[in-house]
Amino acid sequence: MPTVKVRRNQQVESEFTFSDADSTLLNALQKNNVDVLYHCREGFCGACRCQLKQGEVNYINEPLAFVRRGEILTCCSKPAGDIEIELL
Ligand code: FES
Repeated sequence: MPTVKVRRNQQVESEFTFSDADSTLLNALQKNNVDVLYHCREGFCGACRCQLKQGEVNYINEPLAFVRRGEILTCCSKPAGDIEIELL
C-alpha cells in the first residue's frame, strides 16, 4: 500500500499508509488528522490543491478546476505509489 508523506512549510507534518478504503487522498488526509482545505470534494473548486513533490496520482474523476504543473487535487485523486505532497 502506498505511503503518503505530507509536508507543510517544508517540514514533514505527517506520514501514513493510503488504504483503498479511503478512496481519495483527501479522505486519507482527513482520517490521519491532517488539517487540509477543501470545499466541493468533486474537483470543481480547486480548494484542495496541493503540490505533488514525488510520485504520481491517478484521478478518479478528471479535475475540472485549474491545476498548475506539479499540482494535484486531493479530493478526486489517489496515490499511484508512494507520494510526497506539500500543502499550500
Ligand atoms: S475540494 Fe473542490 S476541487 Fe477538491
